[in-house]
Amino acid sequence: MSDPLLTTEMLAPDKDGLARAASLLQAGATVAFPTETVYGLGADARNSDAVAGIYAAKSRPSFNPLIVHVPDIAAAKELVDWSESAQHLAAAFWPGALTLVLPLRHNAGISPLVTAGLDTLAVRCPAGAVAQALLKEAGVPVAAPSANPSGRISSTTADHVKAGLDGRIAAILDGGPCTVGVESTILGLQNSPVLLRPGGVAREEIEAVLGHPVALRSQNDAISAPGQLASHYAPEARVRLDARAAEGNEVLIGFGDVTGDMTLSATGDLREAATNLFPMLHAADATGRPIAIAPIPDRGLGVAINDRLRRAATPR
Ligand code: TXA
Ligand code: MG
Repeated sequence: MSDPLLTTEMLAPDKDGLARAASLLQAGATVAFPTETVYGLGADARNSDAVAGIYAAKSRPSFNPLIVHVPDIAAAKELVDWSESAQHLAAAFWPGALTLVLPLRHNAGISPLVTAGLDTLAVRCPAGAVAQALLKEAGVPVAAPSANPSGRISSTTADHVKAGLDGRIAAILDGGPCTVGVESTILGLQNSPVLLRPGGVAREEIEAVLGHPVALRSQNDAISAPGQLASHYAPEARVRLDARAAEGNEVLIGFGDVTGDMTLSATGDLREAATNLFPMLHAADATGRPIAIAPIPDRGLGVAINDRLRRAATPR
């Protein structure tokens, strides 16, 4: 990791805070900001020095490409070769938790550090008033991975961001807790649609809009989503899945009829569980005890939750 050298400014999501965050982005600095999924660590996607600042702050492997955030469909079309499927999906889900991977336009001006050498670009139009206001005011395409040290639990509050990245980034725009709580769904659209990462929009919802089934990324197709490393979202502690009760001194995260020290959703609501997932992993990790987690059904948002949990449980 690079040395912590910066004084990280904490910004309120008001007129002054937004103006400051936008001018920092325009000047090539790194700014963490809230989206409806998780906090992003943003930088101007056209400025290689700025993008390098993201990789340095996160200690992120530079072969792992970044999602570019735009305020609307028109801005996305300036960056990628748009398609009919993209139009249908964006009309249905943008602004929202769906990222589309499309061929990069050669005159888009995106730093090669963003795509890590791929000829495609991941674009997303986030929901959430603060993200929208920031993107409009900054007027630059904003590359932003989740705002956490690489491989660690994603951040759904400004406090999580501060705990992980204080002194390594210019500012944190505090927009309160994220409502969705898991990262966006990533869909490859270069050829027929491929689900590259399950996330905040369920596969079933996408299939309903497209009117046909969506293929899953094959497990050995490593390059198509290089961020899909086996160990990711990892707490300090050991994580045990499919637990119905705590063993030893484990802290138990419950779901449905499994009541834990904390419970993702007592009523078995997968949306509520997704919102609570990362905050509860952070809280459980802070106890310093090993973590056990109740079984989560593998449907709807449960697919994204189980994807994150399997990676959290993979030994590093
Ligand atoms: O909800 C989200 O998507 C959040 C917020 C901040 O927008 N961002 C996020 O970014 O989760 P990150 O960097 O943590 O995950 C981005 C994933 C990585 O797995 C990366 O490999 C993949 O997107 N990715 C980026 N560009 C890609 C491309 N051109 N082709 C395939 N996968 C790509
Ligand atoms: Mg991430």
